[in-house]
Amino acid sequence: MTYAIVFSSRTGNTRKLAERARARLGERDCAWFGGPSDLREGALDGVDVVLLGSWTDKGGLGPELSGVAAALSGRRVFLFGTCGYGGDPAYYARILENFRSALAPGAEVVGTYLCQGQMPPAVRERYLLMAERDPERFSPLIENFDRAQGHPSEDDLVALDAALVRAGLAS
Ligand SMILES: Cc1cc2nc3c(=O)[nH]c(=O)nc-3n(C[C@H](O)[C@H](O)[C@H](O)COP(=O)(O)O)c2cc1C
Repeated sequence: MTYAIVFSSRTGNTRKLAERARARLGERDCAWFGGPSDLREGALDGVDVVLLGSWTDKGGLGPELSGVAAALSGRRVFLFGTCGYGGDPAYYARILENFRSALAPGAEVVGTYLCQGQMPPAVRERYLLMAERDPERFSPLIENFDRAQGHPSEDDLVALDAALVRAGLAS
C-alpha cells in the first residue's frame, strides 16, 4: 500500500502526528510527505491512501489545505489533526466533521484522528490580561491552555497508531 501525507502545521503539533504516521506506516511506501504548497502536480496520482492533516482554524480545516481537500474525489483519505481545546469528544467530532465536509464529494474517509495541541506562550499571556477584566470567561481558557501543554503527548501518538490500525493502514 502506497500513501501520501499532506499536512499543514503552523506551530508543529500536527507535524508531530504526521511524522508519527510516517514512522508507523514506513518510509518505503511513502510517496509524498509535506505541506500543500510544495505539492507537485501529479504527486498524489496512483497513491492508495492520502493522509490529510491539519491544525484547527475556526473549527475547521486550515485554509491552505482546501485546494488539496477539494481534489480528493474518489480517493481513500485518513483525516487527522490537532486543536487547541481539549477533552470533549463531541467537540473533536464536530471538528472532524468540518474537516470531512471540506473534502471533494466522493472521497472515502477510511479513518480519523484528532487530539489537543499545545499553544504558544503568547496566547496564555493574552488570556491572563483578559482574565483580569473577565475572569469567568478567561479562567477556563487558561486552565485549558495549561492542560494542552505537552500535547500531542506520547499517549496521543499511541492513540494515533491505534487509529491507523483501525483504519486498516497499519497492523
Ligand atoms: C487563527 C487560529 C484559529 C484557531 N482556531 C481554533 C479553533 O477554532 N478551535 C480550536 O480548538 N483550536 C483553534 N486554534 C488552535 C490550533 O488549532 C491548535 O493550537 C493546533 O494544535 C495548532 O496546530 P499546529 O501546531 O499543527 O499548527 C486556532 C489557532 C489559531 C492560530
